[in-house]
Amino acid sequence: MRLVRLIANLGYGSQRDVKMLLKEGRVTLADGTILSDGDKADHADIHIDGEGLDPAQGSVLMLHKPAGYTCSTSDPGRVVYELLPERFEYRNPIIAPVGRLDRDTTGLLLLTDDGQLLHRIISPKADVPKVYEAELARPLTGEEAAVFASGTMMLKSEKTPLLPATLEVLGERRARLTIREGRYHQIRRMFAAVGNHVETLHRVSIGGLTLGDLEEGEWRLLDATEIASIFKAA
Ligand code: URA
Repeated sequence: MRLVRLIANLGYGSQRDVKMLLKEGRVTLADGTILSDGDKADHADIHIDGEGLDPAQGSVLMLHKPAGYTCSTSDPGRVVYELLPERFEYRNPIIAPVGRLDRDTTGLLLLTDDGQLLHRIISPKADVPKVYEAELARPLTGEEAAVFASGTMMLKSEKTPLLPATLEVLGERRARLTIREGRYHQIRRMFAAVGNHVETLHRVSIGGLTLGDLEEGEWRLLDATEIASIFKAA
């Protein structure tokens, strides 16, 4: 891809803006060599004003999502993009959340501009387990695990039953739930269907990938081994 387009697609400005950056000698290699339009360079070697470029197309990020942020670009409230560099909103293609977490759900959120990878992760066919921990308003009755694992549980206004899900009891009002699909408000609706109410919900892992020591509100890039771990259940 031409240098101007590559940089413009990362959200640094229009192609005209980027041509100006090049003209001003602000786009260089790591060693300070000034680049001009038409030059070829490795993404990792390109610098603007002495700073390395933003992540290349095809990158995957993980964000430790706090409560109160929606997975949307245009919500009147706070959105997850506010937790990423502002430029990311102007990338083409955009870095999009891999499946959504509700506004008040916390935990592991993946974002990528790689559409194929996104579909590979969220497709029920991929069978990638997602693990959540829920705090509930009422004590567990002991019957939930069998209902959730049945493979016949129907949620209101859905046409097909839920895939079997695994429930582990962590306390009187605390549970860990593993699901292998991602329907709208799925976990909140599952507990509502058995007469309970989810008070807090936290996503712990996606496949074999966990948040590790990433602080709430922080994000970082994943490397190839971490991306591969998504498809290897822990
Ligand atoms: N299930 C829910 O109900 N909410 C989420 O955010 C994720 C799964």
